[in-house]
Amino acid sequence: MSANLSQLRKFVSPEIIFGAGCRHHVANYARTFGARKVLLVSDPGVTAAGWVADVERSLQGQGIDYCLYSDVSPNPRIEEVMAGAERYRSEQCDVIVAVGGGSPMDCAKGIGIVVAHGRHILEFEGVDTIRVPSPPLILIPTTAGTSADVSQFVILSNQQERMKFSIVSKAVVPDVSLIDPETTLSMDPFLSACTGIDALVHAIEAFVSTGHGPLTDPHALEAMRLINGNLVEMIANPADIGLREKVMLGSMQAGLAFSNAILGAVHAMSHSLGGFLDLPHGLCNAVLVEHVVAFNYSAAPDRFKLIAQTLGIDCRGLTHNQVRQRLVEHLIALKRAVGFHETLGLHGVGSSDIPFLSRHAMGDPCILTNPRSSSLRDVEVVYGEAL
Ligand SMILES: [Fe+2]
Repeated sequence: MSANLSQLRKFVSPEIIFGAGCRHHVANYARTFGARKVLLVSDPGVTAAGWVADVERSLQGQGIDYCLYSDVSPNPRIEEVMAGAERYRSEQCDVIVAVGGGSPMDCAKGIGIVVAHGRHILEFEGVDTIRVPSPPLILIPTTAGTSADVSQFVILSNQQERMKFSIVSKAVVPDVSLIDPETTLSMDPFLSACTGIDALVHAIEAFVSTGHGPLTDPHALEAMRLINGNLVEMIANPADIGLREKVMLGSMQAGLAFSNAILGAVHAMSHSLGGFLDLPHGLCNAVLVEHVVAFNYSAAPDRFKLIAQTLGIDCRGLTHNQVRQRLVEHLIALKRAVGFHETLGLHGVGSSDIPFLSRHAMGDPCILTNPRSSSLRDVEVVYGEAL
């Protein structure tokens, strides 16, 4: 008897090295790919924090040539990907290393796609569009949240259209991810909050995604436990490397879960919002999360109850309606505890913007795996609730 195709699950992951100080060993991994010249992708903030210098020292120590490309914006733009690819070609690089948050990592993934195919990055929007393997890619995340360093996603910003677009393919999973909790010491409280909430949303959306399964569920639940249990304390004690490690590990587990189970309506709607307003991705998620959870609950009540229990809510004797309410309250309280009191209205979004935002959210790949199938009208209503 053949298996039902919709029930088959795959799990893709890079080679992961996890631990304080592992960034110093990047040259060993570049060398295993026979690197002659590395394109080192980063951004000005990460350079100023000193993490680029650590990577440079490692490469110099092994005699590996490199050129630095750090013209990357907080929401990386297609022009930056194309310029980085030109740099890769003109400098005759053969390996890409990125150090930074989601922006340099996504930019580096985009550069890999462009140099492999010799075509414009906009041609690769969508799922499984990549035909030629990218050059060896080594990523070193400096935030605990985006998980671009383990994921099959690339999110880029098309400034002309005021929207983000996604590329989803196992071909953009990096070859090596060096996850070093020390690098998150440079995150300020706001960035810690944005990226931490993003990671929690990754875990929640992956756990209830229609693509979830036994390979991703344990990672999603452990991620929720680690982030919920340590994020607020980490923000209050920014120098505590033990707490940094726990949140970084949670973020990594959330990344492994969502990269393989995909996401849901929070991300579809937040990608649309982030392209429109150029706001931090985690902040966009934070504004939307409890509204989407309330909307989705009825589509997967038992799984949402497990989420509630994992977040420490005592569900004994509660009806599903009560669990749903407690879960929403918990998410709002957690957001407040990390410093978020945002609404869409606060950022200048008005009801006249909702049709534009909703149309783009409906075109995002993440909407396809949302547990409750969502119409344009549903998405408009949820945006309206978050105003
Ligand atoms: Fe995200």
